[in-house]
Amino acid sequence: MALRVLVTGAAGQIAYSLLYSIAKGDVFGKDQPISLVMLDIPPMLGVVEGVVMELQDCSLPLLKECIATSDVKEAFTGTEACIMVGAMPRREGMERKDLLKANVKIFEAQGKALDSYAKKTCKVLVVGNPANTNCYTMMKNAPSIPTSNFSCLTRLDQNRAQAQIAMRLGTTCDAVTNAIIWGNHSTTQFPDVAHAKVNGTPVYEAVKDDDYLKGEFIKTVQTRGGAVIKARKLSSAMSAAKAICDHMRDWWCGTKGDQWVSMGVVSTGNKYGVAEDLIFSFPVRINADKEWQIVDGLPISDFAREKLDITAKELTEERDIAAAFLSA
Ligand code: NAD
Ligand code: LMR
Repeated sequence: MALRVLVTGAAGQIAYSLLYSIAKGDVFGKDQPISLVMLDIPPMLGVVEGVVMELQDCSLPLLKECIATSDVKEAFTGTEACIMVGAMPRREGMERKDLLKANVKIFEAQGKALDSYAKKTCKVLVVGNPANTNCYTMMKNAPSIPTSNFSCLTRLDQNRAQAQIAMRLGTTCDAVTNAIIWGNHSTTQFPDVAHAKVNGTPVYEAVKDDDYLKGEFIKTVQTRGGAVIKARKLSSAMSAAKAICDHMRDWWCGTKGDQWVSMGVVSTGNKYGVAEDLIFSFPVRINADKEWQIVDGLPISDFAREKLDITAKELTEERDIAAAFLSA
């Protein structure tokens, strides 16, 4: 049976880098046929048709069907995995939360469509910025779908953190494991390598430069999205698509051994002192049944505590601003 996968923002630049990997079998398994549903707004449907032609021309045996649509009912009906990319990206000089006004209504409407038409087991990954708060809005508008089925993308930040450490040590990124992104996919995020390892050695021992790890390293990861926009005049797309594939593959197939990954998920149970009911990025392990669990019991230093509180505060504020826009 083909798996029905929805990608929104299908005419955009992230989708252009993403759709091929999904259709080729890099995300949901090498034997899993895919029915690919691509949603965009009506003026962009011509572009989506062009993307469909290219997907057909890729001649991919797993790709059973391509559906291009601007109708949310058609898009969400029977969907089993939703990758929510469709939204406005920021430009130079903007913060991601500046997009709230433009994007929050999209996630309200699409959350309602998800609630009405998707499979109740559907897994949702929100990418459109501000990703955590858009995910929160979508979750609240789809009360019939379990809250644990919602996540937002912070894997790009995790990949950035692991790549920075690998470059610093002159090794490959796969040698670096268990970097954590805490909190918001914004400049208040806390990229934390206090529990990370490089080839089995704690990163702090391998790097031997605490000032760098507590200063420049954190700043570089926090501001990387803005640096890419400044250089490219467009927001990151290839690296975002790769991170989406990493996130979804791990959700579908499970994390390996002792490793954990970062994803934005709903905060419950006062884990790490984070207020309830935020979409907050935590380290998680995922089992073969696609169930994630927040990694428990990691020691949190005073330095880390302060950073976790800053990013949680920003998420609480964003949630309130979004609520005000939605009720206006
Ligand atoms: P883009 O402008 O190239 O594409 C966005 C697409 O979404 C466009 O085709 C647009 O028509 C479509 N769209 C707009 N409203 C829609 C709606 N209501 N329904 C369906 N589609 C709609 O942008 P992009 O570079 O692909 O980025 C998309 C989003 O992803 C942005 O918000 C960007 O900031 C965000 N992003 C997030 C991360 C992350 O790590 N979380 C990384 C990179 C980009
Ligand atoms: C990123 O992290 O590259 C994206 O969220 C785009 C942005 O606005 O920074």
